[in-house]
This record gives sequence, structure tokens and C-alpha cells, in this order.
Amino acid sequence: MKNLVLVGFMGTGKTDVGQRAAARLGLRFVDTDHVIEQRAGRTIADIFAKEGEPHFRGLERAVVQELAAQQDLVIATGGGIVLNPDNLRDLSATGIVVCLWAEPDVILKRTQHHNHRPLLEDPDRATRITDLLRQREPLYKSIPLRVDNTHTTVEQDVESVLRIYRDQTTGARAGV
Ligand code: S3P
Repeated sequence: MKNLVLVGFMGTGKTDVGQRAAARLGLRFVDTDHVIEQRAGRTIADIFAKEGEPHFRGLERAVVQELAAQQDLVIATGGGIVLNPDNLRDLSATGIVVCLWAEPDVILKRTQHHNHRPLLEDPDRATRITDLLRQREPLYKSIPLRVDNTHTTVEQDVESVLRIYRDQTTGARAGV
């Protein structure tokens, strides 16, 4: 089966939705951030702090290339995967790429008690989220298959993602 790939900004629920979708589809779940951390034996925050973001992007790129060469996976990606167009190209070649989207205020609420994301470690996290999201919005919105989960539950998001995946893999058309 083709991979199901979840892309989207931090706090859009890629891991939660991905794990549940994988269980429903009977596919293996993989999280690119988790693979990077396991291999490095360190956290992403530590990698950013010691080697910087470009080094992290290199590790992320290598994991994407590896996972895109496999099948039967549900892949939750890091929020910055869209920054390198090669990542989307490779992931789309072997998978159905779905972008999860949420408005900045909801992202702030979902991430406010987390401190593992180096790019959100800013005294003014609300402005940081708005700025980053504005910069990246064209990249996320260039992905044709999107689920806006600003006002939905994780369960509803899973259903939306599964519907898209099934429609795309069986050739059926949604909503007709
Ligand atoms: C990042 C998102 C993070 C992680 C890293 C950078 C980003 O993943 O890859 O902190 O650039 O948006 P999540 O989207 O899973 O939080």
C-alpha cells in the first residue's frame, strides 16, 4: 500500500492523527523527528542547540529519502519538511501527502505547555507562531490535499484523513 504522509505546522496533530490512522489502516507508524532522535541518541532541541538548524535539516532530509523508498507506512513529518521541495517530491512519489492545517491561536493553545520545540522557544510565542506560519503558509497551501482542524476533534481528523487516503488510493471521488 502507498504511504500516508502527514505534513503540517507544529501543533497540527500529525503524530496523534497519524498514530490513530496507522492503527485503523494496519500500517506501521513512523515519525521523522522520532527517528532522528533515536539515531542521534539526543533530542531535537539538543541537535538544534549544538549543531544548528541546517544540520538538523540534513538529518531530516536523509530520513525522508529513506522512508520515501519504503511502503506501507504512515509517516508523520516534522513541521519544516516543506522547506525543502525535494522532501515533498520524494514523499509524494510513494505516498499520499495530506497537509494538516490549524489557525495560529489554536496552535498556540495546543503547544503552550510544550517546551521541546526549539523554533517556538521565544518569549513571545504567539508572534513567533504567527510569523513562522505566515512565512510557510504558501508551502503548506501548495499541498492539494488538506484538512483544516482548527475546529475539529482528533477523531474527526482521522476520519477525514482516512477518507482522503481511501479516495486517493482507490480512485473513488469524494462527496459525489
Ligand atoms: C519543526 C517542527 C518539529 C521539529 C523541529 C522543527 C519545524 O516537528 O521537526 O522542532 O521546523 O516546524 P513537529 O512539527 O512534529 O513539532
